[in-house]
Amino acid sequence: MKITIGSDHGAVELKEEVKKVLAEFEDVEVKDVGTFGKESVDYPDIAEKVCADVVSGAADRGIVLCGTGLGISIAANKIKGIRCALCGDVYSAKMSREHNNSNVLAMGGRVTGFGPAGEIVRAWMTTEFAGGRHERRVNKIMALENK
Ligand code: RB5
Repeated sequence: MKITIGSDHGAVELKEEVKKVLAEFEDVEVKDVGTFGKESVDYPDIAEKVCADVVSGAADRGIVLCGTGLGISIAANKIKGIRCALCGDVYSAKMSREHNNSNVLAMGGRVTGFGPAGEIVRAWMTTEFAGGRHERRVNKIMALENK
């Protein structure tokens, strides 16, 4: 699986931790679109880079991080084809895959510790979309993009 990951300056350390967790998976290829330092950057630009890969198919899924996860998840969800889930707990991460077929995970580097974030990533990486009645609802979400 190909994952594109990006963060603003508020989650650079968390991005490195998430990359360590992703390295636990044998068949996962990670592309990091930055940012790489403490210099302030604008999270919508990072969301756009990560989501462009997901929409084009260059990545199967994306991970976006900022201080709270809020701004970057809001930005990601403005992009056609993106279902970005801001998660601060394992249950939500699982459900975002099983019920919502999330293709982008968002977390906040200033609100979620490395330990919980690692568990969230593991759950999100390993949970499949359940389909069935959830497929109808996800299709309705996607139809909202064209209204
Ligand atoms: C940047 O200071 C901060 O606003 C950003 O990382 C994020 O928390 C926005 O939602």
